[in-house]
Amino acid sequence: MPKTYFTTPIYYVNDLPHIGHAYTTVVADVLARYHRLFGDEVLLLTGVDEHGQKVQQAAEKKGLDPQKYCDEIQLGWRTIWEELQIQYDIFFRTTDAFHKKAVQAALQFLWDKGDIYCKDYEGLYSVSEEIFYTEKDLVDGKTPQGNDVISIKEKNYFFKMSNYQDKIIEALNAGNFVLPEYRKNEVLGFLKKPLNDLCISRPKARLSWGIELPFDKDFVTYVWFDALLNYATGVGYQQKERSADFEKWWQSRSVVHLIGKDILTTHAVYWPAMLMALGIEIPKSIFAHGWWLAAGGEKMSKSKGNSVRPLDMKNLVGVDPLRYFLVREVTLGNDASFSPDLVVNRVNAELANNLGNLLSRATNLIDKNFSSIVPEYPENLSTETKSLLDALPKTSKEIEEQVRALAPQNALQAIVNLLNDTNKYIGDRAPWKQVKTDLSAAAETLATSLAILKFAGIYLSPVMPEKMNRLLSTIGFTGEKTIQEALNWKKSSSLKITKGDPLFPRVELIEKD
Ligand code: MSP
Repeated sequence: MPKTYFTTPIYYVNDLPHIGHAYTTVVADVLARYHRLFGDEVLLLTGVDEHGQKVQQAAEKKGLDPQKYCDEIQLGWRTIWEELQIQYDIFFRTTDAFHKKAVQAALQFLWDKGDIYCKDYEGLYSVSEEIFYTEKDLVDGKTPQGNDVISIKEKNYFFKMSNYQDKIIEALNAGNFVLPEYRKNEVLGFLKKPLNDLCISRPKARLSWGIELPFDKDFVTYVWFDALLNYATGVGYQQKERSADFEKWWQSRSVVHLIGKDILTTHAVYWPAMLMALGIEIPKSIFAHGWWLAAGGEKMSKSKGNSVRPLDMKNLVGVDPLRYFLVREVTLGNDASFSPDLVVNRVNAELANNLGNLLSRATNLIDKNFSSIVPEYPENLSTETKSLLDALPKTSKEIEEQVRALAPQNALQAIVNLLNDTNKYIGDRAPWKQVKTDLSAAAETLATSLAILKFAGIYLSPVMPEKMNRLLSTIGFTGEKTIQEALNWKKSSSLKITKGDPLFPRVELIEKD
């Protein structure tokens, strides 16, 4: 059975999530749910990155001890993911004792092996990114992300990242390790310059909130060294009792990391170098998606104060339509603008008008004319019915191919096309007239429409789990949500319809003064 281990980044807990964080997590959840529908074995890890300067500062601001601060705020993250229907298998916290032990074991291994060394260092440090820069990396005196740097001189520990430069280039060239292709080229471009070794320590005098170096009590490890390892420790790395899990999920190279493009270098350069040094497998793929931009075209971010909260959108359109919008609106990889009116337009056009209307038209007619039972197909089907039903296996194949190629937006496009064709089919055949003149033709139109609704209900479940449960129960489908059921159009007859409120009421955006 194919298996995939999907991960999201683990998010800094200096604040609660905005739409940008929700995006990665929703996309990962949607992909994981599709893979489950295809019958694959799936594991989904998300979580929080609790160490480092940013979190220490956020705790200080609240006057809390960092651990206490993390214990509280991580609950907020979990609650929001639950509200957004994220079906994660692992919620990872970097302050968990097993992780700290495993990170220390990894550090000790690299120290013993000679891949970590100590030296005095003078450098330019960005507090907000927690990264050292050299003069040549800066743009107008700031980091490429536009943040300030300060000059720091101190003893530190370094990981011999430069030793792995050629092997990383080899891995990049070997296949789909970094996606999309243009991001791979970006990383290859970055690797044209010689790699610096990576400073993996922070003196406790400056930052105490982190995992202590096992070979020097005066230092904690760099937050990224700790954080990246979560993906491996989450499935048992350096934990004897979980070695079978680790073999199964990590060493089989079934890992797909979903990240934002802002953290591509840490994932596509630092992380494989660490894994190569530790002698374990590199992930199958790292997919970097784009940014949601706030009004004015700037990246939505906590620090810029321009972020939209997922729960505000929930109040406007509901959770499932928000999930649909996030996956449908943008080609995974590209940037996109976010605004409530874009959400409302998409939801009204594709969910209220297209899918919602199809459902209410078909179920109303069945309710009135066939005592709420989906009628039998006539013996001979018309050409237009056959061609619509023939589209089911084709669409099913297309969905699977697109999802496996990490293009869920194209899978949704295929479903939207099918629904458009079905609305056109209904419009052309006008079953509201057929019921008066040719009951058997009306039965054919309505049974076919219901077969498509069942298909859409099953195939849109990974994106809109709650709404699709409601759709399927409206059309009386109580079977298991499987591909076989989605394709079994014959079984739409005899379902019992229960009419209810509109599934996707139109949303009006009320402008504030
Ligand atoms: N803690 C690190 C990640 C460590 S992973 C081993 C971190 N955390 S973060 O809280 O800053 O979240 C970063 C991630 O949030 C990005 O990589 C991206 O997935 C997501 N996004 C944050 N803002 C975003 C947008 N405006 N648009 C899309 N996604 C963005 O970095």
